[in-house]
Amino acid sequence: MRKLNKEEIEFIAQCLKQDKPLPDIYRYIIPFETKKEYELTYEGKKREEDILAETMAVPLQPVKTFGNGNGGWTNKLIFGDNLQVLKALMDDPEVYDKNTGRGKVRLIYIDPPFATKQEFRGSQDQKAYQDKIIGAQFLEFLRKRLVFLRELLADDGSIYVHLDWKKGHYVKVLMDEIFGEQNFRNEIVWCYKGASEAKDRFPAKHETLFFYAKSQLTSFNYDAIRVPYKDDNKKPAKWGEGEIYEKHPLGTKCLDWFSDIPSFMTASQAKEIIGYPTQKPEKLLERIIKASSNEGDFVMDCFAGSGTTGAVAEKLGRRWIMIDCGKLAIYTMQKRLLNLREEIGNHGKPLKPKPFTLYNAGLYDYKMVKDLPWDKYREFVLKLFQCRDEKYRIAGVELDGYLGRDFVMVFNYKKHKDVILDRGFIDDLHKILGDKVGYRFFIIVPAASVMFFEDYIEKGKTKYFVLRIPYSIIDELHRKGFTHIKQPIREADVNDTIDAVGFDFIQIPDMECDYFIEDKKEQMKMDKSNKETVIKINKFKSNILSKKPLKFENRETLSMIMVDYDYDGEVFDFDDIFYAEDIKKQDWEVRFDANNINEQVMIIYIDIFGNEKREVKRRVDFSGSNKAKC
Ligand SMILES: C[S@@+](CC[C@H](N)C(=O)[O-])C[C@H]1O[C@@H](n2cnc3c(N)ncnc32)[C@H](O)[C@@H]1O
Repeated sequence: MRKLNKEEIEFIAQCLKQDKPLPDIYRYIIPFETKKEYELTYEGKKREEDILAETMAVPLQPVKTFGNGNGGWTNKLIFGDNLQVLKALMDDPEVYDKNTGRGKVRLIYIDPPFATKQEFRGSQDQKAYQDKIIGAQFLEFLRKRLVFLRELLADDGSIYVHLDWKKGHYVKVLMDEIFGEQNFRNEIVWCYKGASEAKDRFPAKHETLFFYAKSQLTSFNYDAIRVPYKDDNKKPAKWGEGEIYEKHPLGTKCLDWFSDIPSFMTASQAKEIIGYPTQKPEKLLERIIKASSNEGDFVMDCFAGSGTTGAVAEKLGRRWIMIDCGKLAIYTMQKRLLNLREEIGNHGKPLKPKPFTLYNAGLYDYKMVKDLPWDKYREFVLKLFQCRDEKYRIAGVELDGYLGRDFVMVFNYKKHKDVILDRGFIDDLHKILGDKVGYRFFIIVPAASVMFFEDYIEKGKTKYFVLRIPYSIIDELHRKGFTHIKQPIREADVNDTIDAVGFDFIQIPDMECDYFIEDKKEQMKMDKSNKETVIKINKFKSNILSKKPLKFENRETLSMIMVDYDYDGEVFDFDDIFYAEDIKKQDWEVRFDANNINEQVMIIYIDIFGNEKREVKRRVDFSGSNKAKC
């Protein structure tokens, strides 16, 4: 490496002092102390240490357990941004051992989405395209998740990352950095057939999966995934010069290119097709899960989509964790798991899944939080604000933990029902603690118990901050503003990459609809009746709490409407979905065959922030031409 001269050194020092970027020519001249021979650099690449430390964790709120959990382990279906959830899972002793720093997940499969310029189809898509996470941003988005996945992976674990020819090569380099080049086991090419319009290249008919082991301890069950010999006869085969070898009774070894698993174009897979965009075949997951895990092991997919990984893991007797930030994905998985069949491809007898629990992570039901017993409430809210749970007393006052180095008190509104947090309370607290606390002191408290509007009250050198539940936006606390988990308004965006930060509480949207039945505008041959049910959406308004008031047009924040035509009164088992973009084109009307409805129908209206308004309607509620209001 050539030496920098005096002028260059001065110039660089000036740039640094003035906070100016260095010209590109210095990129390869300035010597860095690094153990890496090569690495992928791009704008915005963070240090792994910072990713691990700065990522916010969001506590998991159980919403419902399907089946009888009996207090033991239940499989996990989690709604939330996977980055924050992965960090939260590092606090779960069943998934990660904090004492040894070792993960317990045996197998991870991910099939992340990504936007490329190809998806940009015209001016009306421009806005949607601009919002997408592409290029270096996408790489960093994925890299952050991979760093956490490495932590959660057991020492004998394996990870498979499913990509295609567009971004795969960049991600391979990142995976070498994160998991170690020596642990790279395979580049699997999954190839299939199908029509193509390509005229300037070979039609692209393959996807790529990178398979890494966590360490040398990782085993591989090659006998479990043998495939039939091509000629399918069991006689010994001849090798070259008459050498004879016996065929293995289970078949030949499976090679690193899979050509025997069709993509979803073929009718042979009809039984497993759910209609979720980018759903992967069960046969593909069967091979991966059998090769790299055993019965009882943990299998995880944090971009779970339609839930192929969990469905196959369930059939193969593995425990599973699935995460997705899409409401559609969550309801699709719930339906899929409750309608499983024993065999791969969803054939055979019905299979009752082992108990699984649906969790919210980052978007919470406030009533459920408030109804928790005190201990659970205290634990939950401490986690919500990233506080360390540690009880102690100062001058006789019981405190609950630390935020960084500052003291935290969880206001016990359950015990002291008639006490409110007003200025007098802060005065009294300061009289007792004043000289014993530092510059910041935090009180976690339900918003309804606080009698002033400020984020903090200053007493002497100490600022007494109130962390209000259900909502608290305190700039001093979070270096990054909170961003919501966005839900799509059109089918093409279902697989969007979402990078959400922070938490929020469910705020049920306001809505006004007319429900009625009228003659069909167009009659199709397969229609069961000539009447159709109509839901006319007159008003839809999200109730988002935010420091700066957010203004939306009527119906602007509607994402989608999901319908269960024969709601059993207990589980929402969705049958149909209507996206806001299409509803708008139909003059804000949703229409479906009147005969679809059995006794009662459940309709879920979802806004772009993931909040739901649920309605149960019986046939009579739509009956006649009387417009029934909701
Ligand atoms: C390509 S699909 C996965 C399909 C899946 N392999 C299957 O067989 O159905 C990717 C999924 O990642 C989800 N996703 C995108 N960003 C996410 C995030 N930050 N956290 C959790 N899920 C995310 C999308 O909602 C989508 O369902």
